[in-house]
Amino acid sequence: VPLRVVVTGGAGYIGSHVVKMLVKSGLEVLILDNLSTTSGENLRFGKFEKVDLGKEERIFQIFSSYKPQAVMHFAAYIVVPESIEKPFKYYYNNVGNTLRLLSAMQRAQVKNFIFSSSAAVYGIPKEVPVKEEADLNPISPYGESKAMVEKILKDMAMAKEINYISLRYFNVAGADPEGELGPSYNQPTHLILRALKTAKGELPYLEIYGTDYPTPDGTCIRDYIHVMDLAKAHLLALDYLLSKGESLVLNCGYGKGYSVREVINTAQKVTAINFEVRETKRRPGDPPVLIADNTRICKILNFQPEYDDLELIIKHTWAWEQKKR
Ligand code: UFG
Repeated sequence: VPLRVVVTGGAGYIGSHVVKMLVKSGLEVLILDNLSTTSGENLRFGKFEKVDLGKEERIFQIFSSYKPQAVMHFAAYIVVPESIEKPFKYYYNNVGNTLRLLSAMQRAQVKNFIFSSSAAVYGIPKEVPVKEEADLNPISPYGESKAMVEKILKDMAMAKEINYISLRYFNVAGADPEGELGPSYNQPTHLILRALKTAKGELPYLEIYGTDYPTPDGTCIRDYIHVMDLAKAHLLALDYLLSKGESLVLNCGYGKGYSVREVINTAQKVTAINFEVRETKRRPGDPPVLIADNTRICKILNFQPEYDDLELIIKHTWAWEQKKR
């Protein structure tokens, strides 16, 4: 019998890429998603049930009848500045609904959990590349919501209530190289996507949020990881969890950073369009530099990046955006 996995947020950008990879590897997938922040255009693989994670009884029923071996939990709000404006919205969904999900899992005796965490748990790291054992000092309610869930999972694992792997994503970008999936946000906020929307003429100009950061060119530095490599990391994590039953926290990044200006230059090169760029003030909640130390995931999961190339990441995203034109 094939393994059965429930994927919350499986209609979204990252979740849908993972679902495709799981299905292609012969697993059975049930997506639970309320389609609140995604277009739904990525619902192409797996089974789907439209449901809100606030509905604990319904989720419990689903787990009881479907009997998944594991749950992958992508569903969450992810916009850092919005979380500063609307903290309750973030805590209610990202923490509250995760607790309801965990409760439904416990009641249905589903033990294995893969959690979408974020580099935002680190806040402004004292050292970069940042290691998993670094202090967690989030500087936004979004980051705080992820750190809170991690703490809950850690305590639950200690008491053997759950086995989990928490994957701390750095900046996820790119699209399915086969062109079937890509970023599917109703409201794109991410740098690469906004740059490409500007190249397409959907945005009048691209803003750089802050040019006075303590970095070589004054703009923020991020570790951009291709969504296909991140998806692969989830499959490796699932394998590990089901075979070893041991909990882990792992950074997901390449260990290499690019500044906002470098990303924009690459986007202009890939698209061959010199779209307009305007420098503006800092955006709240942005750490100057975020780069992963990925030693742990490379070692423990034998993770080997295949798309470790900013130009390729932008090319794949551009191909997806052009297809949607
Ligand atoms: N940026 C711009 N102009 C834009 C968009 C972004 O200058 O139009 C800048 C941001 O200020 C930041 C950098 O580009 O310095 C990257 O911003 P993104 O919005 O693309 O990504 P973030 O680093 O803010 O956040 C992403 C995810 C979060 C996650 C975080 C952790 O959205 O969920 O990575 O690394 F927590």
